[in-house]
This record gives sequence, C-alpha cells and structure tokens, in this order.
Amino acid sequence: MDKNVSALLNDQINKELYSAYLYLDMANFYDEKGLDGFANWYEIQAREEQDHALLIYKYLHNNSEKVTLEAVAKPDKTYSALIDPLKAAHAHEQYVTGLINNIYRAAQDAHDYRTVQFLDWFVKEQGEEEKNSSDMITKMELFGDDTRCLYMLNSELASRVYSEPSLKI
Ligand code: FEO
Repeated sequence: MDKNVSALLNDQINKELYSAYLYLDMANFYDEKGLDGFANWYEIQAREEQDHALLIYKYLHNNSEKVTLEAVAKPDKTYSALIDPLKAAHAHEQYVTGLINNIYRAAQDAHDYRTVQFLDWFVKEQGEEEKNSSDMITKMELFGDDTRCLYMLNSELASRVYSEPSLKI
C-alpha cells in the first residue's frame, strides 16, 4: 500500500477513537442534566465510532500494513446550553467528512482502488451522520425551549438502539 495512504488510514483510527471519546463526553453532559435519551444517542454514537476505528484497523491488517496506536486526546469542549453538544457534533462530523475525503483523494492519486472501494462505505456513512446531526439541531431549535417538547425529544432519542456496522471485513 502507498505509504501516505497507509499513514492517513492509521491516523484515522486515532481520529475515530477520539470521536468516540468526544461523543461519550457529550453523553456525560446529558447524563448530568438528566436527559437520558440524549445521553443514549451519544453513547451509541460513541460505539459506532469505535466500530469505525476497528474497521480501519482490520482493513490495514488485512492488507499486511503495520498499525500504530497513538494516544487519544482528551475531549476539550465545554458545553453550557443544551444545544451546544448538538452543534459541536455537527461541526465535528463535517470535519471528519473532510478527513475521509482527504484519504479518498490520496487513495485515488495512488491508484489504490481497493482502498477507494473500502472508503465508499465511510463516505456514505458521513452523509448519514451529517444529516442526523443537522436534523437534531433543527428539532432542538424548533422544540427545545418547550419542556414538554424537550421531554418528547428526549424520549425519541432514548429509543435509538445500537446496530453493528453494515460493512463487514
Ligand atoms: Fe466515524 Fe462520525 O464518523
């Protein structure tokens, strides 16, 4: 595998684990506020990010590439308003989309079409995650100021269940 592509994928493992940590910190914020549904949403989001890291880890090993695990940074964001984590999550997903696109471009430049195909799943996943995070902001802006609506929104988010990634490696 092209050295640059391999290094970017290796780094993406760390980025996905950081995403998991960031989302767990958001769950932590909502748990402290008593919004267990919002917390549930981000707990599951954290698990999905761990899955993403593991998929890339396995992909590298399946291609006989060396994996190096680096330190995962401390989540450094602070939140005050209830909508703050939702906005931070959306901005973070946009950032991650940029990272995935960057690896995609590097794989294309290296004519590494196997990695391009592998990353197709991540491109689609980013589209879904950006839509979800954007929709949550919209709902919160529309209904979040009304306590009964907030209760219903919390209940809706509490119903989210974890499912394994559709990509199998
Ligand atoms: Fe692994 Fe939320 O992207």
